[in-house]
Amino acid sequence: MKKEELIQQAKEVRQRAYTPYSKFPVGAALVTEDGTLFTGCNIENAAYPVTCCAERVAIFKAISEGYTNFKELAVVADTKRPVPPCGSCRQVMSEFFPPQTKIHTSNLYGESRTMTMEEILPFSFGAMDLTHEDE
Ligand code: THU
Repeated sequence: MKKEELIQQAKEVRQRAYTPYSKFPVGAALVTEDGTLFTGCNIENAAYPVTCCAERVAIFKAISEGYTNFKELAVVADTKRPVPPCGSCRQVMSEFFPPQTKIHTSNLYGESRTMTMEEILPFSFGAMDLTHEDE
């Protein structure tokens, strides 16, 4: 799928964001290795920290449907610069995305910035840190 198409999908699902508190809707679109598309929007809660970001909604939907191999993800919000994914989302992405996976961050003004997983979260904590396997 083309980057522009993926960003368009993220824009469409952004319209379904549930954001009565922040009024800051975000949309994300994720493509699996076999070309299946999963989208997600942010879903807030009156107990604020329970909120789930758009990126994680898309990833969790895909994982719960049995998909574990991902190709690229786009995220969009009404920001001046292409929206940077939050730290929690980067950590969740790093659990499932190989280092070269592309992440297209974008805004509503036609700007985008593509980074790889390892660029967006360098020196990330991962499964190998839980063991002494590399020693
Ligand atoms: N948000 C996302 O959905 N993704 C991000 O990467 C940044 C933040 C949401 C969480 C909350 O609903 C709103 O944006 C304001 O922080």
